[in-house]
Amino acid sequence: MGAKPTVAALALLAALAAVSAVQAKEALTPSLLLSRAQAIQNWLVETRRTLHKLPEPGFQEFKTHSAIRRILESYNIPYKFPYGKTGIVAFIGEGKPVVGLRTDMDGLPIHEPDAGAGAAGGFKSENEGWMHACGHDAHMTMALGAAKLLKEAHDAGELPPGTVNIVFQPAEEGGAGGDVMIQEGAVDDTDAIFGMHVMPHLPSGTVHSRAGTIMAGALSFRVVVQGRGGHAAMPHLNVDPVVAAAGLMSALQTVVSRETSPLGSGVLSITMLRAGDAYNVIPDEVMFGGTIRGLTHEHLMFMKRRIEEMAPAIAAGYSCNATVDWRLEEQPYYPPTVNDESMAAFALKTAAKLFGPEASQIAEPLMTGEDFAFFCRKIPCALSFLGIRNETAGSVHALHSPKFTLDESVLHKGAAMHATTAVDFLRAFAVEGQGQEAAKAKAKPAAAAADDEGDDEYEEPKDL
Ligand SMILES: *[C@@H]1O[C@H](CO)[C@@H](O)[C@H](O)[C@H]1NC(C)=O
Ligand SMILES: *[C@@H]1O[C@H](CO)[C@@H](O)[C@H](O)[C@H]1NC(C)=O
Repeated sequence: MGAKPTVAALALLAALAAVSAVQAKEALTPSLLLSRAQAIQNWLVETRRTLHKLPEPGFQEFKTHSAIRRILESYNIPYKFPYGKTGIVAFIGEGKPVVGLRTDMDGLPIHEPDAGAGAAGGFKSENEGWMHACGHDAHMTMALGAAKLLKEAHDAGELPPGTVNIVFQPAEEGGAGGDVMIQEGAVDDTDAIFGMHVMPHLPSGTVHSRAGTIMAGALSFRVVVQGRGGHAAMPHLNVDPVVAAAGLMSALQTVVSRETSPLGSGVLSITMLRAGDAYNVIPDEVMFGGTIRGLTHEHLMFMKRRIEEMAPAIAAGYSCNATVDWRLEEQPYYPPTVNDESMAAFALKTAAKLFGPEASQIAEPLMTGEDFAFFCRKIPCALSFLGIRNETAGSVHALHSPKFTLDESVLHKGAAMHATTAVDFLRAFAVEGQGQEAAKAKAKPAAAAADDEGDDEYEEPKDL
């Protein structure tokens, strides 16, 4: 007797619950996520300042690693570790699709000045000689903020089905920590990955991305020019490597200006020079070094080959020898960062929804390198630039400058950008009831083809 009404009532309740679940899911809009991110802005600032005090070398981000784990644990966010010694992958939700959000963790060997924003705000680096001068403290904070927002949404049953993986990677500044994490399986199950980099040359709060190459491939080199040292008053009895090195350094400037297309993009910068240490002694050898950058792998390989050809030939003209070393042990090759077309469009669309269409712009590529490139070789990706230029906040100094200053007001915007990208991705690429975009991605061999192509190219540098 009572059973039938109960069943009916249960069915009704279930139907209502389903409706409210659907409503709840739909309620997780970009503007709601942005306002929730705004509400944790103070927490974000505090977190960023804590991390700012702990800049560490690549693969040695031990304190940073512990700080991240403490925060994840305090919000009951599960994670796996280690990847690449100090790397961590946190995850929220379960099953397919799987979207990745990536941040880097390492600092730079730069002395943070006492006159800087860190000292003024009481959060100067506590690791003497090291500084977060590339914004990785902000990147980690925005990723942690997104983790917090997503975890709360997940626990409230608001998150669409699927998994968000938050990838904390070591050694972006030279050690190819991203590559190490990938080789250790950190993104094996991830369908696509998004990254962000703060940029002091772009207006604060604007997001810039593009399909295709957004950052350059990079190699560093070291040239040793050998002669035969002796008394500076008797150059004819010696073989002078100083003049030979000067000639070679000038000649190398023609690689870009005379040998590559003016429409292509390449950079060759010589940044170090060591010769003798007495005024009246010609040294035995001179060492100089620098970096080459190119927007395509081929461009970079051409420059590399020309340096290898010119160095011994020009040194020989001065009766010297020259050898070129690509320092791959210390500074692995970083390929160009090539954004997937649909993922870049996805990131720009998300930015437009959050901050308005005027704040979502097509990026101009930069000649800096970025080891997010390795993720892009493995899975569809999009790297975006988040502008932080703000005169009022003193956020006008270049990345890698000891004066680098972060406009902290972007922290909640970055967190909202990450969280919204993840939520919208899970919706758009839902495994069941596939949306248009999911279907497009499925039917899109381009991503797979680009991936294969990437894999081929990926092997090449190993022969360097
Ligand atoms: C250059 O290398 C050759 C072969 O190793 C050697 O015989 C020669 O002395 C070197 N010349 C100079 C100037 O170092
Ligand atoms: C610039 O910084 C000031 C001071 O920190 C802040 O009030 C303002 O909102 C920032 N402007 C933008 C566009 O973010």
